[in-house]
Amino acid sequence: MSQCVFVARESDTAEGRVAASVETVKRMRGLGLDVLVEAGAGLKSRILDADYEAVGARIVGAEEARSADVVLKVRRPTSGEAATYKPGAIVIATMDPYGNEVAIAEMANAGLTTFAMELMPRITRAQSMDILSSQANLAGYQAVIDAAHEFDRAMPMMMTAAGTVPAAKVFVMGAGVAGLQAIATARRLGAAVSATDVRPAAKEQVASLGAKFIAVEDDEFKAAETAGGYAKEMSKEYQAKQAALLADHIAKQDIVITTALIPGRPAPRLVTRQMLAAMRNGSVAVDLAVERGGNVEGAEPGRIVEVEGVKVIGYLNVPGRIAASASALYAKNLLTFLETMVDKETKSVSVNVEDELVKATMLTNGGAVVHPNFGGSVQQGEGK
Ligand code: NAI
Repeated sequence: MSQCVFVARESDTAEGRVAASVETVKRMRGLGLDVLVEAGAGLKSRILDADYEAVGARIVGAEEARSADVVLKVRRPTSGEAATYKPGAIVIATMDPYGNEVAIAEMANAGLTTFAMELMPRITRAQSMDILSSQANLAGYQAVIDAAHEFDRAMPMMMTAAGTVPAAKVFVMGAGVAGLQAIATARRLGAAVSATDVRPAAKEQVASLGAKFIAVEDDEFKAAETAGGYAKEMSKEYQAKQAALLADHIAKQDIVITTALIPGRPAPRLVTRQMLAAMRNGSVAVDLAVERGGNVEGAEPGRIVEVEGVKVIGYLNVPGRIAASASALYAKNLLTFLETMVDKETKSVSVNVEDELVKATMLTNGGAVVHPNFGGSVQQGEGK
């Protein structure tokens, strides 16, 4: 009998994404898997039940999750959802594991083998499974669109018979995946763009996109990148120097987009209320780090607030605001990972606990929490 994949409808009403696309369902069918899609799962991403059906999926109710060997989701299943899955089922999702140890333990107790896609290592082999990159890229784009929407002026310079409209000045803070896409998008809209980061590698990338790089380039900056390519938390002294340099620059900007994150730490506070007060009335700040504590003082999760005359945008789940595109990429990330578990001959799904991708992402297995970051010890030689 074929093994069965269940594509869940997200129960969080604020989530517009879905974990499978028409293309990935077709690919899963091609791998010899049965695909069950919960009715309405793709609607908010503009995928109709009939679209899934046309490529061989069966549209089912939530209770059919029990027959699935693999469950694909965007968000971690609620305890109610997890209880409906078959013990031993593989669940692949964005698990948001840090600070949610109780929920992870519940998934272990339910006997699920769960994978947190956001823990995928950033190695060449796993590039096409990197949900952080695929979703951050779209968030960076959407941040510029949201800023342009709230901004009462034009982005590009326009020379007209009635006078000249100046180009908007956009400053991007944090030039990682989201920041680089924000730079590229703002440039395409014709803005005058500058950017900052604490990693020296970012300097060249910013310049190659045609934006001006602004940073305190001291010895600490030159050593700020970890082996994994991430930022380190900077010293108090560096942060003070950075703030002094950037305060003058921010005062001259129309739009500030912040994306700065440090793995495992709260987001660094980069824009103070005082800096906002120095900006022109009607300026806009977008804080993409608001879910992790925020880069902008006064930013509120899920809201647009006016702080010192500046509109501060703190939308949550920004990739979900561009759900159709975000789902297409997210679904592909999940499919590529699932493919590594499918035996092409027997068409069966099995987990190889020796695989480095499995070791990095597996949270629970065989009734226990197995990920070392969440209290588990790595299991050896015990497959499913
Ligand atoms: P992230 O989301 O953790 O952080 C966003 C940005 O904020 C980073 O560029 C970081 O340096 C910056 N930042 C942190 N503290 C700051 C501060 N005080 N001031 C200004 N900026 C600050 O990072 P993301 O976007 O996930 O990626 C970081 C880097 O990882 C990429 O630029 C790339 O080099 C590498 N990467 C490698 C991949 C691969 O090899 N497959 C895939 C994706 C990214």
